[in-house]
Amino acid sequence: MNAIVVVGSLNMDFVVQVEHLPAPGETVLGRNFQMIPGGKGANQACAAGKLGGPGVGVRMIGRVGYDVFADHLKASLSAAGVDVRAVHATQAQPTGVALIWVDRQGQNSIVVASGANHALAAGDVEAMRQVLRGARLALFQLETPLDTVTRALALARQEGLRTILDPAPAQPLPPDLLRAVDILTPNESEALILLGRPPSRIEPHDAPALAEALRKLGPQTVVVKLGDQGCFLSNGAGSRHVPAYPVEVRDSTAAGDTFNAALAVALAEGKTIEEALPFANAAAAISVTRLGAQASIPARAEVEVFLSRASGG
Ligand code: RIB
Repeated sequence: MNAIVVVGSLNMDFVVQVEHLPAPGETVLGRNFQMIPGGKGANQACAAGKLGGPGVGVRMIGRVGYDVFADHLKASLSAAGVDVRAVHATQAQPTGVALIWVDRQGQNSIVVASGANHALAAGDVEAMRQVLRGARLALFQLETPLDTVTRALALARQEGLRTILDPAPAQPLPPDLLRAVDILTPNESEALILLGRPPSRIEPHDAPALAEALRKLGPQTVVVKLGDQGCFLSNGAGSRHVPAYPVEVRDSTAAGDTFNAALAVALAEGKTIEEALPFANAAAAISVTRLGAQASIPARAEVEVFLSRASGG
């Protein structure tokens, strides 16, 4: 079965652990340099592959360069069971990379050099039709060109897929893009920026008004990701806060990607969104206890054990 298609970025992450994140002009000495497969699109595909297992087919659409990073990134996805035949190489750019510092509290700073991800052009979208056809859900993020995302979202809709957009990295978005989104999953700053407001921390009690304002921009369902406070769901049927599972945070990189993929897997398996969100919260909670992007994503069985322990089983 081909249930989930992810359209997005692939990056090789260069990760350094530091005592504290450097201030402008400051040099800090880091520990433990590691190269870990990443990129918001590839992380979501990898997580969907690991969490869905063979019953949920996952395909990735993206661009890499002709280099060794491309081979590693595709191998990481294949190992998670993802079909990478629609990840094409371009001569125009090297594979995307991300430079990531992670501090003692698990907070990070990320700079992405998009490289080949920018070569996923709007002109390539029609060729995605065959990959999208027959799938249930399409996952998008914002590390590929916006006009490509806009057209691919519209195509996914035309082909009858349910569309999920993770509006990250944060930026204002054109109305036609947002109108093609079924489920929008911003974090706090992304939600505020989409509404033209300055980014800041919000409290769970601010989430209903934010989610309602975002729903007016087009998406029928909005899930605001609130980090260690869980998430807030708003859809036509009502709204609810779904609390997070308390864990010790080592690195929050790719927690949002893991959340989105877990949500998609549960929906592809026929769960309602209310049933899917605790599963997504659990998968994301496990991911933050480990370093790195794809290296931190749990397997399905781990999430099931975690959920059963959390419910006292
Ligand atoms: O969401 C985490 C990802 O953001 C990292 O893997 C990095 O590649 C950046 O794209």
